[in-house]
Amino acid sequence: MKTERILVTGGTGYIGSHTVVELQQAGYPVVIIDNLSNSDRAVLDGIERITGIRPDFVEGDCTDIDVLRALFAKYTDIKGIINFAASKAVGESMQKPILYYRNNLNTLMNLLELMGPNDVKGIVFSSSCTVYGEPDVNPVTEKSPIKKATSPYGNTKQISEEIITDVINAGAPFKSVILRYFNPVGAHPSAEIGELPNGVPQNLIPYLTQTAIGIRKELSVFGDDYNTPDGSCIRDYIDVVDLAKAHVIAVERMLMDRSDEKIEIFNLGTGRGVSVLELINAFERSTGVTVPHKIVGRRAGDIEKVWADPTYANNVLGWVASTPLDDTMRSAWAWQCRLRERGIM
Ligand code: UD1
Repeated sequence: MKTERILVTGGTGYIGSHTVVELQQAGYPVVIIDNLSNSDRAVLDGIERITGIRPDFVEGDCTDIDVLRALFAKYTDIKGIINFAASKAVGESMQKPILYYRNNLNTLMNLLELMGPNDVKGIVFSSSCTVYGEPDVNPVTEKSPIKKATSPYGNTKQISEEIITDVINAGAPFKSVILRYFNPVGAHPSAEIGELPNGVPQNLIPYLTQTAIGIRKELSVFGDDYNTPDGSCIRDYIDVVDLAKAHVIAVERMLMDRSDEKIEIFNLGTGRGVSVLELINAFERSTGVTVPHKIVGRRAGDIEKVWADPTYANNVLGWVASTPLDDTMRSAWAWQCRLRERGIM
């Protein structure tokens, strides 16, 4: 067991829980803080079933700095932070902008404020390919232009990157790795943890698997008149376990002082653009399950095509998204079936 504890905010959420598993398997003691606003305490059981270790858990809200102060007072061995605690629904952020700015920005500022006094060496921040908007050229590299955000959610990611940069440039005694995720999908291959959307899913894969199992009648494909080979939108779907592994490498890089840079930014994607129709096909091919679907009009605010150039992360982090798409589709399906077995969905 390593001695440096990692604080994982939002650690019972989708990407957070998969990252906790990878951290524990790499030997790191973990403490999770989560307000359970979009996740369930039972996720801790799933993590424990995979790793044999129950992570320490604090139920609390990172927007309350006193909650975080108490946490740091109790866990004096925290050396790294991975910050997942944030609201993440694009549509909801249009309706409730203050909630998004408050949750996402106050959480980050509280953490940054407490890192120095508590001798924390680095913070990994969850950013998004949404910062590139509709790119002029694909694939996008980390040097591709940042476009004006089209939602408060996207804006919180851009502002957060700027806050981290300003704080570090002002001489903060810690480092940061900013990870720009493309579209995280799939579940742990054990089917013990996965994505657990609240209500009607807004994202493609949970909607697709819920349709495949019969909870939803039909998947709507939002548009087939885009300027893409089959007319549907193109994204870079990255397996959540591959994504989780990148966080372990990133936090370790700061703890071990492997880079001279105080702030680094990496795209995390596969480098492969996949259309909505291709994804449905991949799901049907790899699971043998049919997904009833129909083409409907475009969804407001959707980007036509975006996929990553992950070369920089491949070379510098020695990380590559290696899970074949078909395996990811099977893990997403196995998770949906597990939820059904457990009577959850
Ligand atoms: C967007 C953001 C991403 C953010 C995520 C969180 C961009 C490029 N990406 O992802 O940063 O983290 O929201 O929610 O801004 N689709 C259907 N039918 C459905 C659902 C989706 O056809 O029922 C299509 C969409 O039109 C899109 C693709 O599937 O082309 C993926 O959609 P979704 O899973 O919602 O993710 P993004 O919108 O790409």
